[in-house]
Amino acid sequence: MEVAEIKPLTPREIETELDKYIIGQSQAKRSVAIALRNRWRRQQVPEPLRDEIAPKNIIMIGPTGVGKTEIARRLARLAKSPFLKIEASKFTEVGYVGRDVESMIRDLTHLAVDMVKSEEKEKVEARAKDLAEDQLLDLLLPSVKKEQNTGETSTRERFRQMLRDGKLDDRFVELEVAQRPSSPMIEIFAAAGMEEMQSSVQDMLSTMMPDKRKRRRVNVSEAKKILEQEAAGKLIDMDKVVKKAIARVEQSGIIFLDEIDKVAAKGSGAGGPDVSREGVQRDLLPIVEGTSVHTKHGIVLTDHILFIASGAFHVSRPSDLLPELQGRFPIRVELDPLTQEDFVKILTEPENALVTQYKALLDTENIDLIFDTEAIEEIAKISFEVNEQMENIGARRLHTVMEKLVEEISFEAPDVAPQQIMITAKYVQERLKHIAKDEDLSRFIL
Ligand SMILES: Nc1ncnc2c1ncn2[C@@H]1O[C@H](COP(=O)(O)OP(=O)(O)OP(=O)(O)O)[C@@H](O)[C@H]1O
Ligand SMILES: [Mg+2]
Repeated sequence: MEVAEIKPLTPREIETELDKYIIGQSQAKRSVAIALRNRWRRQQVPEPLRDEIAPKNIIMIGPTGVGKTEIARRLARLAKSPFLKIEASKFTEVGYVGRDVESMIRDLTHLAVDMVKSEEKEKVEARAKDLAEDQLLDLLLPSVKKEQNTGETSTRERFRQMLRDGKLDDRFVELEVAQRPSSPMIEIFAAAGMEEMQSSVQDMLSTMMPDKRKRRRVNVSEAKKILEQEAAGKLIDMDKVVKKAIARVEQSGIIFLDEIDKVAAKGSGAGGPDVSREGVQRDLLPIVEGTSVHTKHGIVLTDHILFIASGAFHVSRPSDLLPELQGRFPIRVELDPLTQEDFVKILTEPENALVTQYKALLDTENIDLIFDTEAIEEIAKISFEVNEQMENIGARRLHTVMEKLVEEISFEAPDVAPQQIMITAKYVQERLKHIAKDEDLSRFIL
């Protein structure tokens, strides 16, 4: 089976990858790692049983700013399967203005088609290059075109060598290039639930348009790219690509439904947004349970797509979701609130840590920014305290605090460079203590 070709990461490897960016939350990391690995395991199970194995969908629950979306983002890069992250709050019930729920399956399918297409492109790359090279030689040496086995061939071979060495890159050739029909010629506004119609109408229009070709003068290196693209396009069998893509979506697709709590609301029966929210849940149900969705590439069955939902569940509870929907998300993982020690680690340890980011930014101004250990601890402490005093926004607090902390340096950097600037605990206190102490002030600034 196609998907099995890709060597999948083990749960431990997935966890290690996630550890590079996310501090703590090991339970959540483990759950998603297992879920991801299970996709591959299912592929190895023989046919009749394989179809019976339904994905174990997950809900991640945790306060705001503790890494739910971050886990999804990082997972998306790891999963070699089609992966779509989307906010549940974007959807509206069919019949209302907005995106209908099925559109996520269509998006996922588009994504898979692009994915398979670029894989196929890689496979034909060498052949496309050869073809393009010959075409280019034809253009450069029109007279030598078809005369083989004469002295001219060696001219051609000499040119080929020069071409490969990049010696002809600055020459110009004339080329017929396909022009994309200037696409949104007709903008069609989709009524709710009609997105599919919109895209198919647009597709139809673009196939009806004659493939306009235009002569253009371009230099050889650009011509090479254009011709390679065109050759690759011709070598790829799009029917096969679409088939593969649909199989991949059906067998290993993953949808990350962020902000699921925003569509969970107790049906008060009073109308208003609640009705629509419950409608979204009702629309979600068949997709999560397994249904067929029409996409412009064909029908896609959703039975084995893995859903990972996540939400803060401040106001609502998972139990406020429709019971049927709750049942389709059997695995619940809770993310932990972050501690002051976590903040220290978040500031410094991830590959994209905030401290690293600020250092890199100021490095471009020839400022060597150095944070000593006590300074980091102080930043973590202040952030944690502000979170406790006011609203707990998790690690997001670090962003606001850090920004305030380096504000002055950021502003003055070009004037004082080159210089080494040491950020000490004392500096942190001087810059932030008076703000953090004053509740009104910090409400606005931090
Ligand atoms: N455990 C963590 N380790 C490293 N960085 C984190 C962690 N938690 C949060 N962050 C950082 O804080 C910011 C917000 O995190 P994220 O978007 O994951 O929050 P969330 O849990 O999805 O919150 P919300 O419920 O509000 O959507 C991101 O920049 C993220 O990198
Ligand atoms: Mg989030």
